[in-house]
Formats: sequence, C-alpha cells, structure tokens
Amino acid sequence: MNLLDVQNLSVGLRNATATAPIVEGLTLSLNRGHSLGIVGESGSGKSTAALSIMGLLRQNRQIETTGDISFQGRNLLEMSNRDLRSVQGSKIAMIFQDPASSLNPVMRVGDQIAECIRTHSRLSAKEIDQQVIDALRRVGMPDPPVTMRRYPHQLSGGQRQRILIAMAIALRPQLIIADEPTTALDLTIQAQILRLLKELTAEMGMSLLLITHDFGVVSEMTESLIVLYAGRIVESGETRTVLGRPAHPYTRALLKAHPSLDEKVADLEPIPGSPPSIRQRPSGCAFRLRCTQAKEICSTVQPELAMVDSDTHRAACHVVNSDGRRDRL
Ligand SMILES: Nc1ncnc2c1ncn2[C@@H]1O[C@H](COP(=O)(O)OP(=O)(O)OP(=O)(O)O)[C@@H](O)[C@H]1O
Ligand SMILES: [Mg+2]
Repeated sequence: MNLLDVQNLSVGLRNATATAPIVEGLTLSLNRGHSLGIVGESGSGKSTAALSIMGLLRQNRQIETTGDISFQGRNLLEMSNRDLRSVQGSKIAMIFQDPASSLNPVMRVGDQIAECIRTHSRLSAKEIDQQVIDALRRVGMPDPPVTMRRYPHQLSGGQRQRILIAMAIALRPQLIIADEPTTALDLTIQAQILRLLKELTAEMGMSLLLITHDFGVVSEMTESLIVLYAGRIVESGETRTVLGRPAHPYTRALLKAHPSLDEKVADLEPIPGSPPSIRQRPSGCAFRLRCTQAKEICSTVQPELAMVDSDTHRAACHVVNSDGRRDRL
C-alpha cells in the first residue's frame, strides 16, 4: 500500500451559475520515504492540490472536491473533522511559503512548537520542552534553549523557515507537504533550507511532496515529478526522465524558459502567452493556444495521460501520443 494515493481528484470553485475547475482528475501516489515534486506556472493549481490533500479546503463552502485521497489506506475526504485534525499535523505536516505569515508574531517560537506537540500528544511540560529543544537542534538552530525564547521578529528569514520546519517535524509525521518553502528567501539560504529538508526527510524516513515552480529545485530534491498545467497533469514520471527526456511541449517550453547554471540568461525563451484562467479553459487541450505543435484534434479532444517511453513516464499530448517519439516534435 502506498502512503498516499490520490485518485481522480478534482477541485472546483462554485459560483451562482457554474463550478470552475481549479484541479481536474489529479492522480498521484507516494511511497513511504519517497519524494514527489509538483511543478507548474503560477495559477496551475499546485497549492489548491496541496491544500485539498491536507484537508484544508473542507470548510470552504465555495470549493467542491471530488475523487479519493487515501492516506495509509483511509480516505481523508470521508473522515470526520475530528479524525482529520488528528492526521493534520501529527501524520501529515505542511510547510508554507511565507514564514512571516505562518508564525504568530507575539508568541515565542518555542511555545509555538510546543503548542503543536501539545495538541497531538499527552506529554508533560518537561518532556515537551525536551522535544522542542530536540526539534530546534535537528533544524540546526544555534543554542536551542535560548532560541526557543525568541520571538519571530528576532530571527532572520532563514531561521524563521527553520522554525516552521521544526514545527512540521516535531511530531515525526509520515508525510511533509512543502509548498514553495523557500521562494521568500535569498538563493544561498534557499539552498541551505532545501538541503536541510532533504536531510531530515531522509534521516527520519518521511515522504515529501514538494511544490515549486523551479526545475532546479525538483531535480535536486525529488525522485518523481508531476508537471501541472491549468489544473491537469500534462507529464509525469521519474524526475530525471522527465527532465532528461521531456515529452510534452509544455514541459519542453518550461525547461527552455528556466535558467540553469550553465546557461546564459540571454538564451532563455519565455513561453509566449499566459495560462488560461479557471473560468476560461479552452476546449480540448488547455495548452494548445500556446503550443507550436498543435493539431486539429487538440482543439476538440482532451488528451489522456499515456505512456511515453517507459512504464512510469507519461504525457497527455496528442502529438506525443500519436507519433510516440518525442524527437519528431
Ligand atoms: N478560493 C479561491 N477563490 C478563487 N479562486 C481561487 C481560489 N483558490 C484558487 N483559486 C484560483 O485557482 C487557480 C489556481 O490557484 P493555486 O493557488 O492553486 O495556484 P498555484 O499553482 O499554487 O499558483 P502559485 O504558483 O502562484 O502559488 C488560480 O487561478 C486561483 O486564482
Ligand atoms: Mg501556490
């Protein structure tokens, strides 16, 4: 059994007359101790997918969710609020993009970590203190007994992100969902935080679902990869296969638009146009209006995810699926 199995997850935004699709037919699985990246441009539905997996969209009446989210064999979508709360935090933990808005400015950071632990366990105050110190040590904070008494504004951005990671790992969850955990930080600190996250997940045997728009980050951090466009998977597979032999025209275009260390910024080719909004999804393939290879069928038929060159490498593209060979694209 996989740790996490998401089947055909769709998340829509209701208004008086219609439901607009934010995420459509998302299927993914994640084994224990494995890492999966989700990449896509802004607005592709990455955070919505993560929030719905975490059960955080349940209270939102405008949001309609269908499909299955099975975690350790239990369907999170059908769980009672009480059971779901016990899973959130203790079995699945989430790290958000912006440490400033995720921490309480008027509470000492040690107390914030302690509160997480207290909600999910029955330890004594002394044991909790010990766990707070242990979590701070794991994330490499200097002098934990002193750091735990600090307020968020007394720490740097990178240190605040470490505190959020300490909160996430304090209960030794099985799954960490990290939504663009480093975009608010400068490059050197980003690299340090990502390395820390990778080390901790490996050391503690946790699975990682990492959301980012940065191919450099997924190639360092994840074994498998999903590329999302307008709420749908356009390509998936092992990270090194998808990055080494990208099949979908969108993935190829994204890679060309992505600065890598050995490339001059001048060689980058931004993708013309912008992704369709959730209320204006075109018929057929959502990428066709920006795609240089679009054929007639692309405007009428939604392409299915189909095998490319190995069992796990899949792409949803009529051009790729019909000639089967990416180098003819
Ligand atoms: N509660 C909501 N109300 C209205 N629109 C929403 C809501 N949640 C998501 N959307 C819309 O759904 C689309 C996907 O949003 P989402 O935040 O999941 O994208 P994302 O891939 O995480 O983008 P980013 O990279 O900018 O974080 C966007 O067009 C967004 O405006
Ligand atoms: Mg987002």
